[in-house]
Amino acid sequence: MKGIILAGGSGSRLYPITKVYSKQLAIIYDKPLIYYPLSVLMLGGIKDILIICDEDSIHLYQKLFNSGKHLGLNISYEIQKAPNGIAEAFIIGENFIGNDHVSLILGDNIFYGKLDFFYEALKQKNGATIFAYQVSDPERYGVVEFDDNGKAISIEEKPKFPKSNYAVPGLYIYDNQVIEIAKELKPSKRGELEITDVNLTYLKMDKLKVKKIGRGVAWLDTGTPEALLKASNFFGVIEDRQGLKVACIEEIAFYKGFISKDDFKNLINELPKSTYRDYLEKVLNEFDV
Ligand code: DAU
Repeated sequence: MKGIILAGGSGSRLYPITKVYSKQLAIIYDKPLIYYPLSVLMLGGIKDILIICDEDSIHLYQKLFNSGKHLGLNISYEIQKAPNGIAEAFIIGENFIGNDHVSLILGDNIFYGKLDFFYEALKQKNGATIFAYQVSDPERYGVVEFDDNGKAISIEEKPKFPKSNYAVPGLYIYDNQVIEIAKELKPSKRGELEITDVNLTYLKMDKLKVKKIGRGVAWLDTGTPEALLKASNFFGVIEDRQGLKVACIEEIAFYKGFISKDDFKNLINELPKSTYRDYLEKVLNEFDV
């Protein structure tokens, strides 16, 4: 299973921050936003990861993650020349995906809580799995409608009159067919290759699973300055209460066995003096006990 993080886009709603700065590098409490989606892929056991971003930001992501080797990952980078739509990720990522399956996560999507819904879906052999999450403002998202038996029957992108409160989060799992499906797409009215059209193609082929995510999981929005603040406060409260960090990619790499204890020690030694380093030292020391 390959993983793609789509971290391009115009980020216009966060202007002026995004004039000089990629949205997915904005700070959520104590770390860059992109750490959160990256940690989801890592927790799913995915080590081959492609980051797609715009031309101006690529050097920033490379500086942040390099080849990913220090995390036991294999991270590569591709440029999306313009925000031509989420589904373009599979065209840009064609060589990277190769003959494999692929999980795509949007670089501004945060999930927190028990991620079993994702781990289960990663086991699928064929077709596509997407998720549905109850929100109060479905008109801002892809919206899925279910019949009485809980089967998905329609998906609409940002409908004026949503048929349900179930939004489709930016986390998707596809078999290899997704590359060909993406190539066949025509741009929508807003000029984008829509991920919803990819999902509709799978739905028509009866190869789409839509799994509801329970209310115990937080799927947070990061689309506006208010949403960024709320997400920061959310993780500030949790991290402070538990004394544990969320989306700490170095800890996850160690916990998942992607890196050895010696690698973890070396990695910590490279970090500047900071509360982040203190935290990782604590993780290491507690492991030693
Ligand atoms: O967040 C989930 C929603 O994401 C889904 O419910 C919708 O079906 C899906 O279309 C998408 O809606 P958004 O309106 O949130 O998409 P947005 O254009 O804001 O892009 C989402 C992220 O993907 C954002 O971080 C920018 C990045 N992106 C987007 C486009 C269109 C790219 O990197 N390249 C692109 O071409």
